[in-house]
Amino acid sequence: MKALVLSGGAGTRLRPITHTSAKQLVPIANKPILFYGLESIRDAGIADVGIIVGDTHAEIEAAVGNGEAWGLNVTYIRQDAPLGLAHAVLTAEEFVRGDDFVMYLGDNVIKGGIAGLVEEFRREAPAAMILLARVPEPQRFGVAELEGDRVVRLIEKPDVPPSDLALVGVYMFGPSILEAAKSIRPSARGELEITDAIQALIDAGEHVRPHIIDGWWKDTGRLEDLLEANRIMLSDLVPHIEGSVDKTSEIAGAVEICEGAEIVRSSIRGPVIIGARTRVTDSFIGPYTAISEECTIEDSEIEHSVIWAGSTIVGMHRLEDSLIGREVVVDRTERKPKAYRMMLGDHSRVDVV
Ligand code: G1P
Repeated sequence: MKALVLSGGAGTRLRPITHTSAKQLVPIANKPILFYGLESIRDAGIADVGIIVGDTHAEIEAAVGNGEAWGLNVTYIRQDAPLGLAHAVLTAEEFVRGDDFVMYLGDNVIKGGIAGLVEEFRREAPAAMILLARVPEPQRFGVAELEGDRVVRLIEKPDVPPSDLALVGVYMFGPSILEAAKSIRPSARGELEITDAIQALIDAGEHVRPHIIDGWWKDTGRLEDLLEANRIMLSDLVPHIEGSVDKTSEIAGAVEICEGAEIVRSSIRGPVIIGARTRVTDSFIGPYTAISEECTIEDSEIEHSVIWAGSTIVGMHRLEDSLIGREVVVDRTERKPKAYRMMLGDHSRVDVV
């Protein structure tokens, strides 16, 4: 069995971060989203992984390399344009032909991994196994209509969803998915939808097995989902202090302070992770905050946020629910006239009080 990991896509809902970075590399709990998927694939006993890449291929390749860090054997497959998930499968035809495979959307995170699900697929050997999760806004996803244990219909982002069962971005396929993907036409959004290809399997009388997952799952395409994923992953944080904490600082709850980090005259209330060589001075870092490596935080209060590497935050009282990119500077000055001065990239968002 192989795995096909989809790591292209524009990530428009996470702009401006995705103007300069692949959405799959945004960190949650200081680890790129994509790495959680690669770990799940490895833990399911799969070694041959094809990664579908698009415009951000260089960055993905630099981060994952040949996969040996996970014991994986990674092949990169270039998709020229983001023409849909079924198009991605067809792009990878040579890689998956004749094999069963897991298709894993690189911006999805499933807590608890996929080892049990892969085992169920191997045991039952259906043409496809789909994972479903109950969600409050099914119209944002592919939606399944079930009759008992049988999938009768799958619809991509329906205006009137027939159920609250969303298609999770992890699918298991036998070889017949290739013919099904060739049989469909582009959807209204101009994409070859995997949802339609699986519907074609159902129409051809093939066995499509549904599995409703009860654990936590997230498609991290939007800021609020990314912050939730960060929260869930930080909930499991094992306290560990390698960096230095001065005597006047206070650490409470599950806190990880990585090598070379310095905490000075500050209070850190976990779950919080502070990356390597980051310096926190005269600040409060509240629950569900992940600060990557080589950041500088001074005289600030930060909670429920993700701060990526190399950023500087000074005098912020206070920062919440935020995603800050790499090498960003948020500063406070005494310069007159007293004013907000900003240099923001396209599609940036700022809320001021
Ligand atoms: C894709 C699929 C959709 C599925 C979702 C899961 O949506 O088309 O059926 O529910 O992934 O993350 P997209 O991210 O392309 O909007």
